[in-house]
Amino acid sequence: MTKSASLTFGDKTVELPVRSPTAGPDVLDIRKLYGELDVFTYDPGFTSTASCDSSITYIDGDVGELLHRGYPIEQLAEQSCFLELCYLLLYGELPSPEEMDKFRTTVTRHTMVHEQMHNFFRGFRRDAHPMATMVGVVGAMSAFYHDSTDISDPWQREVAAFRLIAKLPTIAAMAYKYSIGQPFVYPRNDLDYASNFLHMCFSVPAETYEVNPILSKAMDRIMMLHADHEQNASTSTVRLAGSSGANPFACIAAGIACLWGPAHGGANQACLEMLREIGTVDRIPEYIEKAKNKDDPFRLMGFGHRVYKNFDPRAKVMKESADEVLELMGIHNNPTLQVAKELERIALEDDYFISKKLYPNVDFYSGIILDAMGFPTSMFTPIFALSRTVGWISQWKEMISDPALKIGRPRQLYTGPAKRDYVDLAKR
Ligand code: SDX
Repeated sequence: MTKSASLTFGDKTVELPVRSPTAGPDVLDIRKLYGELDVFTYDPGFTSTASCDSSITYIDGDVGELLHRGYPIEQLAEQSCFLELCYLLLYGELPSPEEMDKFRTTVTRHTMVHEQMHNFFRGFRRDAHPMATMVGVVGAMSAFYHDSTDISDPWQREVAAFRLIAKLPTIAAMAYKYSIGQPFVYPRNDLDYASNFLHMCFSVPAETYEVNPILSKAMDRIMMLHADHEQNASTSTVRLAGSSGANPFACIAAGIACLWGPAHGGANQACLEMLREIGTVDRIPEYIEKAKNKDDPFRLMGFGHRVYKNFDPRAKVMKESADEVLELMGIHNNPTLQVAKELERIALEDDYFISKKLYPNVDFYSGIILDAMGFPTSMFTPIFALSRTVGWISQWKEMISDPALKIGRPRQLYTGPAKRDYVDLAKR
């Protein structure tokens, strides 16, 4: 029996179909609302709006649960690896050993970028933020990979996904090398995905570089924890750009641009800078009060989330990883980690944070690990972007392959002037 909801407005009543998900709240299908009642719904920020059907990722913010194709992030972080998670997000099932080998070989063989792309970097100032470089260079991929821009061809969609997953680490590493005046380092096919990224960032031609397996495992885990997250701002940007038929490289460049904001993926850089500004545990109360002060625009970066009203499960895994990496690297009593842990403890006991259900999110601890690995804060969001690329392109593929796809075109509540006639300049 199909469920429905009645909505009465004035002298009209409309029956709205109700659809039930695998998990989460039912949805009211309002697609015929405007046609039947001549009204719009109003939901800036989309706090109560489902923008699409998706079978990729599910979040239960109340209990702090994150599933990728049904598998809990804790189990994936513990037992899987980033490239296997890429396969799962793209194809919906865990790969067989043969499927995994084929996928790994395919991605590995796409890690180099067209040699002409090296020239793009030289057009930027050395002190350009790596996110600015990545937006430009990823968008420019549209100018190089014409054989994977026809979105109506399933195989070209697949190749675009391979290229983006494979080349984003290379482009991010090139942005980093360019910013520090070191030569680009080519990818190596004998290294796994995370090790290859560390190699391209930290090796130099003047000496051999051995990837530390502890850091490589931590890097892989950080990539997994950032891979996908339902219809967040940057994923929604990718979907909206893709709904117009734009090519996949342009859509991912749009997602990178959106992720850069400090309210979203830029929070990891802002959070570490905030922890450094706080500096010592005794200054935490001062910043807690600033965060609570309505007249002060300051917010605790790395805290709060639109969906999680409990612990972000990724933050829990990240916190364990931070302890493990710093310990294994012999970095004891890291002052920034001490401030982070004490800040978390104090905030979680404070009525303001408890009443608003503000908990640490994925960005709260990630910067501490990346800093310990030797990355500058300017590389934190690029690492988020290269990790989220698989989520963006999986969601994009899901949308583009839906025959019911329509261009996204929201309406508005118009609050501007009523119609009026033009007045000549001489008469004003
Ligand atoms: C990511 O959507 C995703 O899934 C994103 C992400 C992903 O994987 O894609 O999870 C990645 O972006 C994580 C979030 C990273 N951003 C930050 O850490 C920046 C700091 N956090 C906030 O700016 C904020 O919490 C947001 C943007 C994350 C969520 O904002 P919402 O859902 O719009 O909530 P809100 O701004 O309406 O806040 C509700 C209340 C407000 O107070 P009132 O107006 O009700 O009195 O809580 C307060 C806010 O002032 N509040 C905070 C706070 N976050 C919210 N107060 C102090 N410090 C904070 N961090």
